[in-house]
Amino acid sequence: MDKKKAIIALDFNQASEVDDFLHLFGNEQLNIKIGMELFYANGPDIVRNLVDSSHDIFFDLKLHDIPNTVQKTMKILASLGVQMVNVHAQGGRQMMEAARKGLDAGTPPGQSRPKLLAVTQLTSLSEASFKEEQPSSLSLQESILHYADLAHQAGLDGVICSPLEAQLIHEQISPDFLTVTPGIRLETKVKDDQFRIASPAEAARLGTDYIVVGRPITQAKDPLAAYQSIQKSWTEALKKGAE
Ligand code: C5P
Repeated sequence: MDKKKAIIALDFNQASEVDDFLHLFGNEQLNIKIGMELFYANGPDIVRNLVDSSHDIFFDLKLHDIPNTVQKTMKILASLGVQMVNVHAQGGRQMMEAARKGLDAGTPPGQSRPKLLAVTQLTSLSEASFKEEQPSSLSLQESILHYADLAHQAGLDGVICSPLEAQLIHEQISPDFLTVTPGIRLETKVKDDQFRIASPAEAARLGTDYIVVGRPITQAKDPLAAYQSIQKSWTEALKKGAE
């Protein structure tokens, strides 16, 4: 999956909405994210159709179940031809190791195994709700680092986190450990239900590997123009960082 392209979260429920949306981009090959809404409404056919249309796909089902169930499910997901899948790190080390085993077993010979990522703490969570709802002596940031470390030890390729944590994760876990970051807003005052947000340029400055953008593109009056302006800001900032 090309790091220079934002991953567009296709948070629609009708396949026809996806078709209309993708039509706006002509033949451009995109990074897209299929989440629960689209998948639960349409089943695996929508994933197969999008794989066939040659877009690169992050299949975001955030599995969180007992190790045996997650392992067997990952074996199926590995056969679909997607590039990224994920679990909740809060499912524990054994569950994450099982996810990795399932992916290894299900990847068809000659194909690359999908990257396996772990959600540390949802980007919609604030420090206050963390303290109230997940009583812990750790701060939210310490908890995120703890889960990132656990995911690294379990053999995962990276984590889903906020751009605000990407730099710390690269410094404290490993520079090669992927950080995939939702919570991206061009205008950082428009948050929707996200809490830990950043602009594409700030995400690039903090060393985020991939940005995931949903509503700022899908709900824009002109989605193509919104995508292009996010791309401009993301790629220019990446270039600046590389200089
Ligand atoms: O619309 P918005 O840009 O907020 O969409 C972000 C996308 O990333 C959504 O599809 C959401 O499910 C997903 N996501 C997230 N936070 C995580 C993991 C995934 O917002 N920790």
